[in-house]
Amino acid sequence: MHNVRQIAEDTFYVGVTDNRISLFENIHPLPEGVTYNSYVILDEKTALVDTVDWNFAREFVDNIEYVLDGRDLDYIVMNHFEPDHASSFGFLMEKFPNATLVMSVPGKRFAKNFGFDIDAHNCVFVKEGDTLELGKHTLTFLSAPMVHWPEVIVTLDLHTGVLYSADAFGTFGKLDGRLFNDEVDFEGEFLDHARRYYTNIVGKYGDKTMALLNKAEPLLDKIKMFAPLHGPVWRTDLDYFIDKHVKWASYTPEEEGVLIVYGSMYGNTENVAHIMANELAKRGVTKMRMYDASKTHHSYIIADAFKYSHILVCSVTYNLTLYPPVKTLLEDMIMLNLQNRKVALVENGSWAPQSGRIMTEMFGKMKNMEILNDKFTHFTSSLREDKYDEIMNLVDVIAKSLGK
Ligand code: FEO
Repeated sequence: MHNVRQIAEDTFYVGVTDNRISLFENIHPLPEGVTYNSYVILDEKTALVDTVDWNFAREFVDNIEYVLDGRDLDYIVMNHFEPDHASSFGFLMEKFPNATLVMSVPGKRFAKNFGFDIDAHNCVFVKEGDTLELGKHTLTFLSAPMVHWPEVIVTLDLHTGVLYSADAFGTFGKLDGRLFNDEVDFEGEFLDHARRYYTNIVGKYGDKTMALLNKAEPLLDKIKMFAPLHGPVWRTDLDYFIDKHVKWASYTPEEEGVLIVYGSMYGNTENVAHIMANELAKRGVTKMRMYDASKTHHSYIIADAFKYSHILVCSVTYNLTLYPPVKTLLEDMIMLNLQNRKVALVENGSWAPQSGRIMTEMFGKMKNMEILNDKFTHFTSSLREDKYDEIMNLVDVIAKSLGK
């Protein structure tokens, strides 16, 4: 049965909710699901903007057919070919064989590589600034390479001001029937989802995201709504969400505070992390979040690495190298281009300690990472009186750097 909602003049949400998926891209946990958004525009010509995951094809087609109410589909606009959106594209092509397929020039290669027989259909390969007339509604296209794949375009309906923004302005999380940003408690329910989505999925491409935001700036008087591929549709406070994306894309911290991460086998390194957190709080540093790298999926820790200005990592040595869960996290930080943070490092090792050296080298591969304690602070096996003052000195350095 159909489940649709009008979002603007002649414009309908026909997307679906996936609350069964456990891992996005088979990596990132989705404890509260995700939506695959798609939209139909009814004019002299009809257009579908983006498709959904294959598992939801039946529900999706019910929605489209209900909105079309007997009309044929004239265009399928594919902003992005990642399979979370595009895996039902082939089914849609069969269902609506008269539809002209609209995609970017690089999109053609992606469509073919994923096995879609687009040569059997009319196709339009658009580039930046091209327009598509539906009647009252004129669609124009902006290229958005690497936000989040090379073929991505975003589509602006000049009549309604709806920007179909592909993965940009998307979030993890299901909507529970509330489609618009002003119908949810965004800061309470979705900001953490949005940050984890952006930083882990698009975070590597901050310069490309900034390029898209700069390109869209002169059009902001025309843009009334963000209609992304995941999460709420934005019809108010667009500036709020733009500001968040500018911070994330420019690797600017949202909060002056500390992300504390520890890697601990038997609790001794964990003990040091807890002592340091306690002492930081006593010095007035309360914007702080602590994670056990073995226990929390790295995507959550990455999100807070983008959020906070300071990162404290306490890690044990393991098999003469860095403890694997911490190593995975730091490799992810390198991969995602995290930069512009103040860093404090604590090494533990019972013999031949290596974690401090390796963490220092790994942070050295990231841009503009200031190591606060010159090198790293070391203790052996468990914290005892002889090293307590050194750890307190590091706490003081961190607190002072935060103005406390
Ligand atoms: Fe939601 Fe890049 O796919």
